Amino acid sequence: MATHTIVTMPGDGIGKVVLPESLRVLDKVGFKANYVHGDIGWEFWCQEANALPDRTVKLLEEHKLGLFGAITSKPKKAAEAELIPELQGKGMVYRSPIVGMRQRFNLDICVRPCRSFSGNPLNFIRRGKGGVVEEPKVDAIIFRQNTECLYCGVEWTNPPEAVRNALATHKQFAPYTKVKPEDLAISLRIFTRPACERIVRAAFEHAKQFGYRSLTVCEKPNVIRETSGMMLEIARSMGKAEYPGIPVYDTNIDAQMMWLTKNPEDYGVIVAGNMFGDIVSDGFAGLVGGLGFACSANIGANCAVFEPTHGSAPKYEKLSPSIVNPIAMILSACMMLDHLGEKEKAERIRTAIAAVVKEGKVRCYDMLKLPGGPDAIAQGAASTPQMTDAILAKL
Ligand code: NAI
Ligand code: MG
Repeated sequence: MATHTIVTMPGDGIGKVVLPESLRVLDKVGFKANYVHGDIGWEFWCQEANALPDRTVKLLEEHKLGLFGAITSKPKKAAEAELIPELQGKGMVYRSPIVGMRQRFNLDICVRPCRSFSGNPLNFIRRGKGGVVEEPKVDAIIFRQNTECLYCGVEWTNPPEAVRNALATHKQFAPYTKVKPEDLAISLRIFTRPACERIVRAAFEHAKQFGYRSLTVCEKPNVIRETSGMMLEIARSMGKAEYPGIPVYDTNIDAQMMWLTKNPEDYGVIVAGNMFGDIVSDGFAGLVGGLGFACSANIGANCAVFEPTHGSAPKYEKLSPSIVNPIAMILSACMMLDHLGEKEKAERIRTAIAAVVKEGKVRCYDMLKLPGGPDAIAQGAASTPQMTDAILAKL
């Protein structure tokens, strides 16, 4: 089998800690690859006014596979203040490099599995009939459209006149024509049919391949009629024409956030636009262990990047040894193995993680529900490398 070259982009903060841990696990299962380092993140924004330097874009263009840790983002004004003096006042605008990477490589299919590991003290529990405590088995997988919607970047504060005039052709814009332009902030929610079709098809294909009983569209078509409406209509018609055995349900994002703690086991494959997919996937991740367990894949037609959904957790970046949970990153590396057809290796790693979690001897601070900080280890928490060591031992 051809040796893959993977662009490793640790990024900022704990991204630098967890990414190398995932490589130790990949090595242990005998996954052979070349790794090349890609610069990304805050220091490149400060030094070069570009958090995703062109040299990293080139590496991804060439190798088409990335493993990514996490980056730090800051609001517009704070970002500008941290530029080196030579770059200040030049109108440089910070954009998140991970959002930029998704758009640049059209990584339009975001997959976020949320599956509970038995014995994880962070698993969601609920009170059933007669007050008995139940621990539902959660196995949801969210397909989030990754490039469009409110995250498309088409937005203004003080929009130009041409924009205001165009919007004034819509009768619902009438109240805003009276607002001073400098008091107007606009972010556009854009959906396109081809992108909706791709994410909906990816979700159906997954449901078909892995035997999920239904597909749920999680949007808000009763209010956001055009964009949410387009996705729902596509799911219904594609389901009818091509996946007649898989019923299509739809939920509104707000109601879904309530239901997911009532009956999470009722949901399997969920498909959503960018923003609601972001929200609902964090909601489900919270049921299965939260950020220490939440993995994801960003998949385009020609390139794919795998990452934990957590950020750079700056408050822990300087702790030595580190205390953060590497499992989210390791599960993201498993998604890369799945993508490359190395399913047996991915399954071995997931089985090893499941065994460590079930055994309960080695737990990071999050799993012990301890406040994160320098004292966590003295209170019994495993360090980041100790958690990886426990997984390696099971392998
Ligand atoms: P965060 O995900 O970095 O951390 C939030 C909290 O979750 C942490 O303080 C910690 O208590 C916990 N946590 C996160 N990862 C963990 C792990 N592996 N194990 C155990 N606990 C963990 O989110 P926050 O604090 O909102 O953002 C920090 C920075 O990260 C910001 O600059 C933000 O913009 C950026 N960010 C980057 C993302 C990315 O690179 N994809 C995603 C989310 C945030
Ligand atoms: Mg998010």
